[in-house]
Amino acid sequence: MSSQPTNPATASATITYDGGSLTMPLVVGSEGEVGIVIEQLRGKTGMITLDPGFGNSGSCRSAVTFIDGEKGILRYRGYDIAELAEKSTFLEVAWLLMYGELPTRAQLAGFVGQVQHHTLLHESFRRFFDALPKDAHPMPVCAAAVAALATFYQEPETEQTLQDAIIRLMAKMPTIAAYSYKHSIGQPFMNPLNRLDYSTNFLHMMFATPAEEYRVDPVLAKAVDLLLILHADHEQNCSTSTVRVVGSSRANLFASISAGIGALWGPLHGGANQQVIEMLERIEAEGGDAQKFVDRAKDKKDNSRLMGFGHRVYKNYDPRAKILKKSCDEVLSKLGVKSRQLELAMKLEEIALKDDYFISHKLYPNVDFYSGIIYKALGIPVNMFTVMFAIGRLPGWIAQWLEMRKDPETRIVRPRQIYTGATLRAYVPVEKR
Ligand code: CMC
Repeated sequence: MSSQPTNPATASATITYDGGSLTMPLVVGSEGEVGIVIEQLRGKTGMITLDPGFGNSGSCRSAVTFIDGEKGILRYRGYDIAELAEKSTFLEVAWLLMYGELPTRAQLAGFVGQVQHHTLLHESFRRFFDALPKDAHPMPVCAAAVAALATFYQEPETEQTLQDAIIRLMAKMPTIAAYSYKHSIGQPFMNPLNRLDYSTNFLHMMFATPAEEYRVDPVLAKAVDLLLILHADHEQNCSTSTVRVVGSSRANLFASISAGIGALWGPLHGGANQQVIEMLERIEAEGGDAQKFVDRAKDKKDNSRLMGFGHRVYKNYDPRAKILKKSCDEVLSKLGVKSRQLELAMKLEEIALKDDYFISHKLYPNVDFYSGIIYKALGIPVNMFTVMFAIGRLPGWIAQWLEMRKDPETRIVRPRQIYTGATLRAYVPVEKR
C-alpha cells in the first residue's frame, strides 16, 4: 500500500486531536505488515478506537498463518497452501500448524499412531446422543459433544494433560461428527477402525452399517483429506477469534473449541457452504437462470447475496477456491458424476467475474463456493457440510489457542465500547409506568 511509511522499522504514527497529540510506535510483521501500537492511547488521551467487525484491528501477533488478501496468498507456517494440498496429508498439516515445523518421519508416525488410538468415545456418549432430538442439526450436536469431553477429562491443566487433550480432540472429532450424523438418520453408530487412516476412518464411520461390508473409495478419502487441509487454518477469522477469546479467560481447550464450533455454524462463516448448495438448488428449481440470481444479489432492495462469494480478507481469488475448482473437476470425473450444480456454479462465477458490481466490490469465489459441490458428490449430506469444515479447522483452532496461551502479551479479552444509551435517570415504580 503506497501510503505506508517508507521505513516502518524506525517510523511512528502521530494522531493529533483538539487538545493534544500522541505519537505511537509501529510494529512490523515478518511479511512487512505494519500496525500502529495503540496500547497507550486510552491511558494518555482518555479516548479509545471504534472498529465494528475489527476490520482494522490486529488482536495479536501470530506466527501460524499468513494471508495476503490482495494477492490471494495463503501460507501455513510459511508453506504455500497449494504445495501442502498437493504433497501433504491432513495429519501432517495439523502437526505443522500446532507445533510450527513439518514433523520428522518418527514424529509423524508417533502422532498418527496416537490419534489412531484415541478415536473411541466413552460409552456414556451413547446416552448423550440419545437425549438429543432425532432431527438435531449435527453442528450444535458436535459443539455440545466437544464441550461434554471436558466432563470426561477433568484433570488440572499441565503440559501433559494439554497434549492428551489435543490428541483426544483430534482423534475423537471425526467420531463425534459421524455419530452426530448417524443419530440424525437413526442408524447405529459405527465404531472407528484404528487401522484406517484419518479420512478413510471418518468415511467408514459415516457410511458403513453393521449389516454390510463397506469399502471406502480411496478417491473419496483423498478428496476429504484435501478439503480438510484447505480448511485447516485461516488466521484470525470469526471462529478462531472466538476460540482465542474464550481461551483468554483460561477456559479449557474443550470449552474454547466448542465455542469456536458455534461461531463457525453461522451462514456468513462456515455455514456458507450449505447455503451455496441451497442457492444452487433454488436457481435450478426456478429454471436455471444464473443471470437473474446475480442481478438479485446486486440489488440492494433484495437481501439475497451470492453465497460463496466475497471475503473480508481476500480481495482477489481465494487460493483455496482455485484448488477446489480444479479438484471438483477431477473428483467428479473420477467418480463418473455429472453435476448440474457444478455447471451452474461455473456459470454463476463466469457472469459474476465479468460484472461491474462484483469487480468493483472485489468479490471473488471463496472456499465455500466449490466445497459444497465436492461434498455432495462424495455423498456427504448438506447439513454435514459445516461439520466437515469444523473437522478441518480443528488443528488451526488448537494451534492458535496454544499460541495465545504461550504469548506473554495475552490478557483476558475485554474490548471497550462507546456507550450510546440513556444517561442517568430515576427509577419509576411499576404502578407509575
Ligand atoms: N453478494 C453480493 N454482494 C456482496 C456479497 C455477496 N456475496 N458479499 C459482499 N457484498 C457486498 C455488500 O453488499 C457490500 O456492498 P456495499 O458496500 O455496496 O454496501 C460490500 O460487498 C461489502 O460487504 P460486507 O458485508 O461489508 O463485507 P464483509 O467483509 O463484512 O463480509 C462476507 C464478508 C464473507 C461475510 C460477505 O462477503 C458475504 O456475506 N459473503 C457471502 C457469505 C459467504 O460466502 N461466506 C463465506 C466466507 S469464506 C468462509 C469463511 O472463511 O468463513
